[in-house]
Parts: sequence; C-alpha cells; structure tokens
Amino acid sequence: MKVLSPTALSWLGLAALPSLVLGEQSPNRTLLPWAFAPLPLGTVRPLGWLRGELQALGSGLAGHEYEFWPYVKDSRWLGGRSDYSALNEALPYWFNGLVPLAYTLDDERLKGQVHSVAAEVLRRQADDGWIGPEVGEDRNLWGRVPLLLGLTQLAEANVTGWKHTVVHSLVKYLRLVDVMLRDGGQGYTLCRWHPNDCSWGQVRVHDFISVIQWVLENTEVGYRDKEMMWDTMDRLYQTSKFKWEDWYTEGRYQKVIKDAHPGNPEFPFLHGVNVGQGLKASAVIRRYSHRESLVKSTWNGVEWTFRYHGTPSGTIFADEVQRDQAPFMGAELCTAVETGYSLAYLYHALGANSFADRAELTIFNALPVSLTHDTWGHQYMARSNQPWALRQIDRPSLFTTASGMATIFGLEPMYPCCTVNYPQGWPKFIARTWAHAETGLVHALLSPSVVNTTIPHKGRVVIECKTDYPFSDRLTYSISAQSSFDLFLRFPTWGVRSESSVQLLSGAAESSSEQMNTVRVDAETGLHRLSIPAGKSTVVYTIASAVRAEPRPYDAVSVYVGNVLYSLDVGQSMTSSLPHRHWNAGGDGTHEFEEYEKCKDFYFNHTKPWNVAIDPSTLRRSTWPRPADLLERGFVDTESGGPGSFLVVDGCEINWPVLAGTAPAPPPKNPKCVTGKKTYRMIPYGAAKVHMAELPTVKLHGDLMHNPDRGADWGDL
Ligand SMILES: *[C@@H]1O[C@H](CO)[C@@H](O)[C@H](O)[C@H]1NC(C)=O
Ligand SMILES: *[C@@H]1O[C@H](CO)[C@@H](O)[C@H](O)[C@H]1NC(C)=O
Ligand SMILES: *[C@@H]1O[C@H](CO)[C@@H](O)[C@H](O)[C@H]1NC(C)=O
Ligand SMILES: *[C@@H]1O[C@H](CO)[C@@H](O)[C@H](O)[C@H]1NC(C)=O
Repeated sequence: MKVLSPTALSWLGLAALPSLVLGEQSPNRTLLPWAFAPLPLGTVRPLGWLRGELQALGSGLAGHEYEFWPYVKDSRWLGGRSDYSALNEALPYWFNGLVPLAYTLDDERLKGQVHSVAAEVLRRQADDGWIGPEVGEDRNLWGRVPLLLGLTQLAEANVTGWKHTVVHSLVKYLRLVDVMLRDGGQGYTLCRWHPNDCSWGQVRVHDFISVIQWVLENTEVGYRDKEMMWDTMDRLYQTSKFKWEDWYTEGRYQKVIKDAHPGNPEFPFLHGVNVGQGLKASAVIRRYSHRESLVKSTWNGVEWTFRYHGTPSGTIFADEVQRDQAPFMGAELCTAVETGYSLAYLYHALGANSFADRAELTIFNALPVSLTHDTWGHQYMARSNQPWALRQIDRPSLFTTASGMATIFGLEPMYPCCTVNYPQGWPKFIARTWAHAETGLVHALLSPSVVNTTIPHKGRVVIECKTDYPFSDRLTYSISAQSSFDLFLRFPTWGVRSESSVQLLSGAAESSSEQMNTVRVDAETGLHRLSIPAGKSTVVYTIASAVRAEPRPYDAVSVYVGNVLYSLDVGQSMTSSLPHRHWNAGGDGTHEFEEYEKCKDFYFNHTKPWNVAIDPSTLRRSTWPRPADLLERGFVDTESGGPGSFLVVDGCEINWPVLAGTAPAPPPKNPKCVTGKKTYRMIPYGAAKVHMAELPTVKLHGDLMHNPDRGADWGDL
C-alpha cells in the first residue's frame, strides 16, 4: 500500500490528484432542507422525570467511566494503552454520549471531562490532519466517526469556547480524508485487517456524511473546502460496497433471516447496531443527492425492520446478528440507542408522524429496561419475555453470538461496546425533542423540558413544558415570547382525537382570553398549529389515549398506553457480585474497581408467577393518569419504590415450558388455565428489570374459563 507523501498532503497539491467521476450526484450543491430543523445542543433542557433520568446517568457509571474504566481512562486516544478492539472506538463512543450529557445537564464536572478529552485529542492531531492514535496502515476511518459526532455537538453547545477549534481540526481532517479516498480508498475500502473491519466504515458511512453536512450547514468554510466536502460525501457513498438502499429492496432484503451466522456475506446489513444506524442512512444521503427514491427506501427500511424483526419495545431483535421475532431472543442496548436516534433523525428529516412515535417508543421502553435504577448496571441484551436476568454460563445459549452473560446487568456484560455507547440515549433524545418550523417551534418528541431559543425574524422564545408524559396525558406549557409565533404540538398516531383538547390562556389575568379547541392535526406530520401571541401565555394540551393490546407472533399480545409498553409485574429480587470483565465470565468477578463500590454486576429474578395468560378485554387503568405531583424519575423499579402508573388485567397461570433452562419458550397457543382467574398488575416495561411483555391470551368471561368455581383472586398483585 502506498504511503502518502508529505507533499500530497499539502492542500495546494491536491488539485493535481485525479478526481473520481462522480456518479449521480445532484449538480445542485444545496442540502435539502430538514422538515423540522433540529435545535443546537443545549437549547433544550430536561425537566421533571426526564431530568431525573439524566442525573442518574451523570451520577452512575456513565458519569464515572472517565475516572476508572481503562478503555476510557487509559485510552490509546489519550496516550494510554487500552481499547477493546483495533477499531479504537471506545473513547469516541464515550465522547459522543458524554458531550450531550454534560451540556444538557450543564454539569461542570462532566463538562470538565469532555473538555479535557477534546483538548487532548485535538492537541494530538497529526500534522497531516489525522485524528486518533493510529499511524500508517492502521488508519481506519470508522473509529473517528463517533468522536466527530461528539465534536460537532460540543461546537454547537459551546460556540465561544469550541466552535473555532473544532471546525479548524475537522476541515484539516477532511482534507486528509479527501487525499486518502483518492489514493485508492485508504482506511475506507482498503483496510489492512479482516474485511469486516473495513465494512464498518462503509455500512455506517452516512454517520460520517452527516458530520460533513453539519460542517456545510453550520460553518463558513471557503469555496474550495466546500467543493471538496461535496466531492467527499459522494465519493464516500459511491465507493461504499454496503448501501442500505440496495438492501431495502424486494428480493434482497431478508424478511426471514436466512443465515444468522456472522460469516455470511450479508452480515454488515444484519449486524444489530448497524441496522439501528442504517435506518436513517437513505435520509442522510437524500439530503445531498436530492434523490427522492431514497424516501421510499427509508420507508421500506423502517416498515420491514419492525414488521419482521421488531420487538414490542420499539427496537430490533439482534445480538451481533439480526433475528426473526421471538420473545426468547433479545435486543442489544446499543441497537436501541442507535435505533431511537435514527428514528428521531427521520422525523426531523422527513416529518412523518410515525417516525416520532417510533422514536418515543424505543427510548421510553427499550432504553430504560436495560439500565438499573442507579444506572451503574446495564444489559447487553434484553428479552421481551425475561422472568430472570441471571448468569447462566453453564447453559446452552439461545442467542447467535451472545452467551449466558448477555442478560445480566453490569459493567461490561458480554462486550464492552454498550458500556460506552448507551450514555448517548437519553441526552440525544432530549436534544431532538424540539425543532424549528418555518413559522415557529415544534414539540416533536413529547416530554418535560424547557426550550430557550430564538425564532428567525421573531425573536426569543422560552417555553417550559411540565408533564409526566408518557405516564400522564396532560402537558402544560408556560410560554414567554418576544413576538407572536406558531407553536406546533405533535399529536401521536395513537391519540384519541375526539377526547383530546388544546387550551390557550394568554395575556394578563384580568384580560385573559381563553380558547378551548379540539385538536386539528396535519395528516402527515401529526402537528396541531396554535398561534401564540407575544408576551406570556399558557397552553394546556391533553392527549387522550386508550389501552391497546397489539398482536404479536405466536398469537400473543403486547399491551400499551400511548408509547409505553406494559409488562406483567413478576416481582423482582436482586443480588449482586463484583463486576466481571467481558473476557472472564467465570469466577467471582474482578477486584480492579473496588474503589467504586457501586460498580457491580447485578442479577434479577422474579418473585411472582411469570407463566400467565391474560384476557385483554379486562385490561383497565389503575392509578392512571397519575395525580398532579410530578415524577422525579420515569422508570422506577419495584426495589426502588415502584412505578407511578400501572394497569390491571384478569388472567390465569398456564403451563409454559422453558427452553434449555434458559428462557420461556414462545407463548403457547390456545393455552388452558391451570389456576383460577386472578387479577394481575402490569407495569411500564422500562421499569421492570424482569418482565413478561409478549403474553398469550385466554378468554375468561364465558364457558372457556377453565375453573370458574374458584372465582377472582387478588393474591398476586
Ligand atoms: C437546489 O436545491 C434547493 C433545495 O431543495 C432548492 O431550494 C433550490 O431551488 C435548488 N436550486 C436549483 C438551481 O435547482
Ligand atoms: C465553553 O468551553 C470553554 C473552554 O473549554 C469553557 O471554559 C467554558 O466554561 C465553556 N462554557 C460553558 C458554558 O460551558
Ligand atoms: C435564555 O437564553 C438567553 C441567551 O442565552 C439568556 O440570556 C436568558 O437568560 C435565557 N432565559 C431563560 C429563562 O433561561
Ligand atoms: C429464581 O426464582 C425462582 C422462583 O422463585 C426459583 O425457583 C429459582 O431457583 C430462582 N433462581 C435463582 C438462581 O435464584
């Protein structure tokens, strides 16, 4: 492989290099506008329960990795010796999550961590522009991408402190990438190692391209650099061997997974985290290529992924390899955070209401379910039917690549990648909750928050949204605006419009005008428009919902209120041990991190029957919506005080076999009661570390009931 000569690296020398014949790129070098443009990081801050979730991350493992966890503290990126793979992606992932966490919380300690890492990494930038510890043929573009995503967020959140430095380093790096790509695709399509290591950069290239788009959209770079960046986007995409638009086509896409072995040639499209990231790929590419066919590709990707491989919690069944729907399979935590982020991106890029509902679904369920209450423990994989989360290394695994450590909660169960990647989940969600619309602001992903921003040509607006949503149906907005503007409130796809309302109270108390409106929504975006006058106003928005039992494979159902999945409360008992390193699942765990006594592995077991069939016609709300006191945390497990909202349902125990002593078999069809009717509690899935979320059904009112004489029994509540 050729080594780059120093002269080839001088920017002036580049013009002499041959340029690729650029394929179908639009001659129109303007990025297609967002449907709803995102706000800069730091403009939206969490309130209420959402703030509680973020604070828990800050005081949990995420907020302390920099102090003691070798892959961060002793990272090769900082002159140390550690990383978990030659991709050197651990510190970049950590940085991508900690920047938004630090700035969303405005936490001085965490901001200090990200500032010192950013300063050190950029101080070490090579003379030729390379960012990262690799030299020569070890250079691989992929590992940089999460770091660049973190840097762009830092530049957004702290313009005076960081934007200039970050943009300067990014442009220098992009000039080098231009040279490497023209030089046969070094570090991108030409890699020294196993071909998989080169495939990461290609199948995830849209994330890199989104960084380039950020530079084009948010900075004033010179004409030649701009031209270079447009060429680079296209060159990256054209030379990628793994384009999601090719995969999301009839015939090629695997609705049923043909070969779940990681060695199969379609593996890059089946790798769980790749699938999560890939959902936004075509929408990113469309922004620069202007090709409208990519909208269809996006829809195919989202619809097929969730129809054939989706979990009830809004993520994707997959360990390292995507699987067909089965509640004993599992879904990786990193896949959940990437999926949630992609879906939020899709709402901003394309504006279709269902993307926003899917984003909320993933983030309100698949993310919190895999974190312990104090967030010191996280899972690698969550099963939708998971009555225990125990170390079962002596049992056969039902997963493809994961073992009996996959469902425990800990420091680095199975793999260490999620340890660094999960912290981005909540903070990136918050950053995407509000967006710009042409004439005002959109509340896109509903949740408690305060937004402080300026609307172009209209001036400053501060809006505080107090709510327990998604655990309650009411959102109260206190608005202060320099001039009138439009407030767009998203009405979820499951909302019951006839029972929902929007009420605007404005002006001083004496002359207040009061308007009660029914909700009128735009069919595509799901938005209700309200004209807000200058000055102070209040809006009370009520979104009525019904309890829903949605069909799942094996004739089972999953139960929802709005975007919250409810699961059978199976009770919960927890034990813990010293944490195990990912390469040593046996033994008692490591003493390395004893100074951090909360750093442990955690094991959960059920304390009530899990082998239950329910009669969905008996589902009813109990303490729902919640009383007016606002929640401090959203997802409180039973050990930590219990969730704030629950449902009740009638059902009975059934015979339900267990596979290899490891997990419940698929829900039995046409089950028969082996006990009398009982009333069971269902709690938010995200709060339930052990749970049953895909349940078989029985009909209890009528002659099908197995043992009517025993009557109702409230004993299991
Ligand atoms: C280029 O694309 C932008 C964004 O869609 C559009 O506003 C503009 O009119 C286009 N320009 C030309 C010359 O087609
Ligand atoms: C912005 O970054 C600078 C440099 O790291 C730092 O001194 C300053 O406190 C940061 N500002 C905010 C608001 O965090
Ligand atoms: C909103 O942001 C502006 C500019 O940063 C600041 O001056 C103002 O105090 C903020 N207002 C509130 C209510 O936070
Ligand atoms: C988990 O709980 C069940 C039911 O109480 C019990 O039979 C089983 O032994 C427990 N498993 C462990 C490892 O504690």
